[in-house]
Amino acid sequence: MFKRSTWPLRARMTLLACSVMALACLLVSVLVVIGVRGRATDYARDRTGKEALKVLHLVKTDRLPPVLDVENDIAVQVLDPRGHVVAATPDLLGKAPMAHVVPGPDNPLTTRRLCPPEGLDGCMDIVAFRVYQPDGHWMIYAADDAVPWYVSGSMVTFLLAMTLLLVLLTALGASRTVSRTLAPVGAIRAELAEITASDTGRRVPVPENRDEIRLLAETVNATLQRLDAALAQMRRFTSDASHDLRSPITAARTQVEEAMLYPDETDWPATARKVLASLDRLQAIVTDLLELAAMDAGAKKSDECVDLAALVSAELRRQTRRVPVHTELTGGTTVNGDPLRLSRLVVNLIDNAERHAATAVTVIVRKDGPTAVLEVRDDGAGIPPHHRETVFQRFTRLDAARSRDAGGTGLGLPIARQTAEAHGGTLTVEDSPRGARLVLRLPLSPKATRPPR
Ligand SMILES: Nc1ncnc2c1ncn2[C@@H]1O[C@H](COP(=O)(O)OP(=O)(O)OP(=O)(O)O)[C@@H](O)[C@H]1O
Ligand SMILES: [Mg+2]
Repeated sequence: MFKRSTWPLRARMTLLACSVMALACLLVSVLVVIGVRGRATDYARDRTGKEALKVLHLVKTDRLPPVLDVENDIAVQVLDPRGHVVAATPDLLGKAPMAHVVPGPDNPLTTRRLCPPEGLDGCMDIVAFRVYQPDGHWMIYAADDAVPWYVSGSMVTFLLAMTLLLVLLTALGASRTVSRTLAPVGAIRAELAEITASDTGRRVPVPENRDEIRLLAETVNATLQRLDAALAQMRRFTSDASHDLRSPITAARTQVEEAMLYPDETDWPATARKVLASLDRLQAIVTDLLELAAMDAGAKKSDECVDLAALVSAELRRQTRRVPVHTELTGGTTVNGDPLRLSRLVVNLIDNAERHAATAVTVIVRKDGPTAVLEVRDDGAGIPPHHRETVFQRFTRLDAARSRDAGGTGLGLPIARQTAEAHGGTLTVEDSPRGARLVLRLPLSPKATRPPR
């Protein structure tokens, strides 16, 4: 498991950029040191070889002085065939031979690096020359300090300084870039922190650059807009609910108060009936609200195989209607769902149709591909096209319905639609030559879609 970092993003990104730059500098420095050291070593050996050649010339022309004067601090010793030092640079006069290296028989020259404890102060690159003289083989040793692994202190200092400078510039650049990139995130966060339930109209600033932060800001704004709409709907719902709950309570209270004013002249059974009517309405509203709350909370529904045709027949048998109800029912139109909620949905559609019908209601149950369709039609005034969606909003009762019947709560269709959607279907008001036509579509149960054997 990774431990979560508590460092701010800017510090982490800056650290990362600096680490990458430091690593890159280290790599480049190593390559530079290797390259320069190779060239420096070649150059030094070349120089040493040239000095040895000058001495060789002295040996060959018999002009060899015992003390050699050689440039560039190069140490030289000349050994006769017996191995005695016959000439040397001042610091090596009288000293033992600096090396015992002898070139191979086919080669007059060889180059070696000799390090302590071979008797030298530090590592040295030695060029050994074999000189053919009448009295035998002479040896010339010329040595120069070996180029160290770091080449030179000043070069290391230079590389370190460059590395530090580059890391510093990277830190500054990374820090500024990350700050500039994250500035919109800070603005979004600050704006979000200030938004409360009472000022939901505010939106977070959208940066100009088309990048992920802009997408984030746009998504946040879209979410805020949806929350805004949901909150507005909730407020409307609360105010409608309290208004609709208050009306029957006020009515019942007025009736009781009036009766109490003249108790002896009051028709108490009639008053009780009126109060009971208000209580019925109150009960209907509370029942519907509880139903809605349960569905909003996603209460579990039972999942049974329900035959829509049988369900409609049973509901029609249960109650006699004000107008005749014609049916066209296709048997075997089964869906999976909660029989109780589905029958409440159907009853609500038939109740509405009956309430608004002029002469008759028609209920059709049919299959349409993988879908079960239930239509409830009436020949009343219908629902105007611009109200086809409004009637599904909670507590919506169109003017005609209000004047016709004070008993409706305006919650029947919203509950019906929510039930349909909870069953994976839809409930809509659709075109009809006359009156209203409400269409419920639900997925057929797999049993009903299986072809007969
Ligand atoms: N068949 C219809 N013809 C005309 N208008 C309708 C029809 N069905 C519903 N409406 C309109 O839609 C409104 C909302 O219907 P809904 O079923 O939600 O409430 P309601 O019938 O008034 O009350 P409830 O069903 O809770 O008793 C009704 O008040 C009515 O104005
Ligand atoms: Mg209704």
